[in-house]
Amino acid sequence: MYTVNQGPQYKLLMGTTFMCSVELTAFHFDHAATIASWPHDRQEMTAWAGSSDTYPATPELFRRWHSDPGVHPKLLQSNAELVAYGEMWMDSVEREVELARLIVAPQSRGKGFGQLLVRRLLSQSASSGYSNAFVRVVPSNVIAIRCYQRVGFSRVQSSDENEFNQNQPRPYVWMSYDLRLLRQMDDSATNNGS
Ligand SMILES: CC(C)(COP(=O)(O)OP(=O)(O)OC[C@H]1O[C@@H](n2cnc3c(N)ncnc32)[C@H](O)[C@@H]1OP(=O)(O)O)[C@@H](O)C(=O)NCCC(=O)NCCS
Repeated sequence: MYTVNQGPQYKLLMGTTFMCSVELTAFHFDHAATIASWPHDRQEMTAWAGSSDTYPATPELFRRWHSDPGVHPKLLQSNAELVAYGEMWMDSVEREVELARLIVAPQSRGKGFGQLLVRRLLSQSASSGYSNAFVRVVPSNVIAIRCYQRVGFSRVQSSDENEFNQNQPRPYVWMSYDLRLLRQMDDSATNNGS
């Protein structure tokens, strides 16, 4: 069980601390149709998954995405209810991870689950020994940008952004997070016995 006094439950219950189970688990294909139904229009589909996939999404899309061995799909469940989906794209050569295709169930948005999903994915990436995490966001997606900023991501330098955007179908806002800092914080928390 996970004790929560910030994030989703904080927002829902205005400061009340209580026990709640929030789990990051591996993706299971049984959930594909549900997640595919979450983007409510073509614009949101593009913000979620890029412009190359057709709307509405289909469960088969997940098979294609997951056929890439670098793609690690995850689910976030709160009290056994599916609330979010996201992928870790692991680059084992550069020791970098890109968090991608993050989406929260429509009825669960604005409650902190997006930030919780990102935190859990970062924590798993850090424990795998990776050094940097990236996200790319459609510039108009202010909610996603705010969500990543709140977790600690910051926009990369414009020269890097220009380089990353070469050969992309559209320009993205690129943000990064130093996973080594997260590991240091975890280490000092462990050493302090917390
Ligand atoms: C982007 C997404 C994953 C965020 O998940 P979420 O659970 O709604 O996000 P959170 O509640 O954790 O955080 C959202 C933040 O944006 C803020 N926000 C909400 N509406 C906003 C707006 N119009 N402008 C600016 N910020 C806004 C919230 O207040 C919150 O910030 P706060 O914690 O400082 O109050 C979710 O909205 C989603 O699934 N969108 C569709 C798919 C998508 O765009 N994925 C991102 C791909 S990069």
